[in-house]
Amino acid sequence: MLPELILNLSQLHDSIAKHLNDVGGTYKFIGPLFANMDFIATCDPLNAHHVLSKNFVNYEKGPIFREIFDVFGDGIFTADSEKWKSSRTLLHSLFKDRKFDMLLEKTIHKKIKGSLLPILDQTQQQGRVLDLQEVFNRFTFDNICSIVLGFDPNCLSIDFPNVACEKAFNEAEESIFYRHIVPTSVWKLQRLLQIGQEKKMTKACKTFDQFLDSCIASKHEELRKFNKTKKDQDYGNSDDDCDDLLTTLMREMHEEDHKFLRDTSFNLFVAGRDTITSALTWFFWLVSTHPLIKAKIIEEIKHNFGAKEGDEKMILGVEEVRKLVYLHASLCESLRLFPPIPFERKQAIKSDYLPSGDYVKPGTMVLFSLYAMGRYENIWGKDSLEYKPERWISERGSIIYVPSYKFLSFNAGPRTCLGKDMSFIQLKMVAASILWNYHIEVIEDHNVSPNLSIVLAMEHGLKVRVTKNNM
Ligand code: HEM
Repeated sequence: MLPELILNLSQLHDSIAKHLNDVGGTYKFIGPLFANMDFIATCDPLNAHHVLSKNFVNYEKGPIFREIFDVFGDGIFTADSEKWKSSRTLLHSLFKDRKFDMLLEKTIHKKIKGSLLPILDQTQQQGRVLDLQEVFNRFTFDNICSIVLGFDPNCLSIDFPNVACEKAFNEAEESIFYRHIVPTSVWKLQRLLQIGQEKKMTKACKTFDQFLDSCIASKHEELRKFNKTKKDQDYGNSDDDCDDLLTTLMREMHEEDHKFLRDTSFNLFVAGRDTITSALTWFFWLVSTHPLIKAKIIEEIKHNFGAKEGDEKMILGVEEVRKLVYLHASLCESLRLFPPIPFERKQAIKSDYLPSGDYVKPGTMVLFSLYAMGRYENIWGKDSLEYKPERWISERGSIIYVPSYKFLSFNAGPRTCLGKDMSFIQLKMVAASILWNYHIEVIEDHNVSPNLSIVLAMEHGLKVRVTKNNM
């Protein structure tokens, strides 16, 4: 089946979604002999519920996943059993702290005000075309650096500087996808000989690791100096103090192990950077091509806040964006059609039967197409391909609960995304501030199609023109 897969590579997600829809939700993919590429592909919600929740103990990320994603180290994304549990407990306690919400709000607000809106302003004054995906990529990279490492590399500046660590991070992710579509022996040989995509991967990882190493080293130095001059208990006592995550790990949790700090930081970068870029890019494309939906979002903001007095540019805070139900629904709908992580894979430990009736041998790979699930007629009905925020809103005007094994964009079961709430906060703050202040128009004939990577980005970016909204 590999030649067919390669032939359809340019429309991989759509062709898998169509095939799964036609065959009733599940099929077995058989690759070349000895290539180690066989798997069961599914978008059946009952299979998702079974693998990700009910029989969770029988399905792990597994050794093949860890090999492909070796650059993630021992972080939460690749870990299983006890290692995974302790990472999850740690990150959960970091994220649920009230101070973390404050750090998030402060960081996003500062970046929207200081970089994002000024760049949109300048673009509209010059009347030039802007790649909105590139803007979001830089925006999210600066934010995740500030939140995790306490350092803003200012990738999002007017002149779009070339920032080596950002470029390296993008290249490492591209290489991981490549490892999914070539036989294991091929990429391993390339890695051994240091040729092709694997050579790129090694170089990119080295650059990004050097960046992380220097951030960790300077954080150690900063804390050492601080401890010399101040009493420990003076630190972080004020309500205004919102330490970055690396500082919290080192100070409060007394983590010294360099590899642990490196792996945790890297995993948080992957978790919280491209996913948000992807969600924002597809959302803005959908909203720009659905003017009625855009008008309703703006109407909701107007109805709730009017124009906030004294603010030249309106930027909403955490509590304010919680009130925006229609915006929330529009984002859920966009995350359904374009899930930032389009695939997920799990490996069976023991033999099993899926609810679809398919037999699973020990070691079998089960691949969930989140993209196909978001478009599966059995879940969403005949209009599954339409962008309709209304399907998320009840008659009483609140968000309809959809079980996570049907709306899988944030995963389901014990490994559900830990960043779901904070993602909605970020997405809503950015979406509201741009939609309120600017009119975004996608340039005519722009080719919008998904790229091939582990995160669903746009192959050709999102080229737009920006004009001011006169509210
Ligand atoms: C729109 C944005 C986001 C989407 C769609 C999303 C989606 C997902 C998905 C599908 C997974 C499961 C991945 C897998 O197991 O292979 C996941 C896991 C995870 N996400 Fe998110 N995510 C988003 C944003 C974030 C953010 C901002 C953070 C925090 C910085 C975050 C933290 C995590 C963590 C720590 C896990 C691992 C959970 C575990 O394995 O126990 N995510 N996310």
